[in-house]
Amino acid sequence: MSVQFKILIGILFTVATIVVLVIYGIGEDARMARYQKNFAARSVQAGAEYFETYCITCHGEKGEGIAGKGPALNRTDLLDLKGTPYLKLINWNGTTADFIRNTIAAGRPQFSKYYENENYQQHMPTWSQDYGGPLRPDQIDALVSYVLNWAPGENPPTVPLVTPTPGPTATPIPPGEILKAIPFPVTEAGPGDAVLAAGKTIYTKNCQACHGPELKGDGPGAAGTAKPPRNFTDCTAMQQFDLAMHHDAVVNGRPANGMPAWGKKLSDLEIWQVIMYERSPCQVYVPK
Ligand code: HEC
Ligand code: HEC
Repeated sequence: MSVQFKILIGILFTVATIVVLVIYGIGEDARMARYQKNFAARSVQAGAEYFETYCITCHGEKGEGIAGKGPALNRTDLLDLKGTPYLKLINWNGTTADFIRNTIAAGRPQFSKYYENENYQQHMPTWSQDYGGPLRPDQIDALVSYVLNWAPGENPPTVPLVTPTPGPTATPIPPGEILKAIPFPVTEAGPGDAVLAAGKTIYTKNCQACHGPELKGDGPGAAGTAKPPRNFTDCTAMQQFDLAMHHDAVVNGRPANGMPAWGKKLSDLEIWQVIMYERSPCQVYVPK
């Protein structure tokens, strides 16, 4: 083999290797883009659920705002990523996403000057655990993605908006049948520690934001609800609220008053576990 031929073979191999790498690289970019798009879609989807649970009482189902409660969030002047007049007005130099993340995480313990004349009944609550609120950082991020999803123009929504759906209407359980409907044994002494521990975990994740860390109905999420949640440690009142009523309240919610429906989000077992936990301060486990 001549030297020239060996060099030629060498060059051909090198070129072939580069071509393979480039092709793989292009595929990799596409894979990354797909991955990022899916990831963003999932984040928006999760954000939609948190928004429905924690934000619509003040900002409306589609972020359109509610007079006296909270401003619209689906506004062009807030979300237009080309540079928003509103952010300039309030002297924010960072990105729109950071502005929204900051506001949700820390809340607005003081009304801002811009909304002085709106006479909102309540302040924007603090949501991030970093500031003593109820939500984790990833939940805050999902909410930011969801709010940004309303941005117009060059940042079109990557997934269709998720319209909140109400839970199913459960058939009321007759009071005489209630103990048979509970999927674990319950006596006057309660359902046992394991059920209460499971109920507490469900409560902390889903209910505490509104019903409060000590079950007193004073969580930040309840600041804007039409009716305040019950104080579950008021035992005189708790004697009067039977299991069937609480089961119905949790499954179907009281949407007009700010209590979300959980029938599609939690299993029947989880619903009963959390009901037992919520009734544990007053130990009203069985019908009188
Ligand atoms: C108790 C009612 C209430 C609840 C619940 C609430 N907000 Fe607010 N929110 C407000 C009020 C009032 C303001 C305006 C406060 C101000 O600047 O004076 C506000 C402001 C905001 C702003 C900034 C808007 C702007 O134009 O500056 C964002 C973003 C926001 N809220 C997102 C959320 C999200 C997301 C949730 C749910 C996790 C939520 N809010 C829950 C009342 C509420
Ligand atoms: C967004 C705030 C919010 C969240 C989250 C929430 N609740 Fe509520 N809940 C309320 C409000 C407000 C009421 C009062 C509704 C009414 O009086 O019509 C209420 C009422 C109830 C009642 C009826 C109490 C009674 O005696 O009248 C029960 C039971 C209840 N919630 C349990 C739960 C459970 C369990 C969870 C979690 C799985 C939960 N809630 C999550 C706001 C919330």
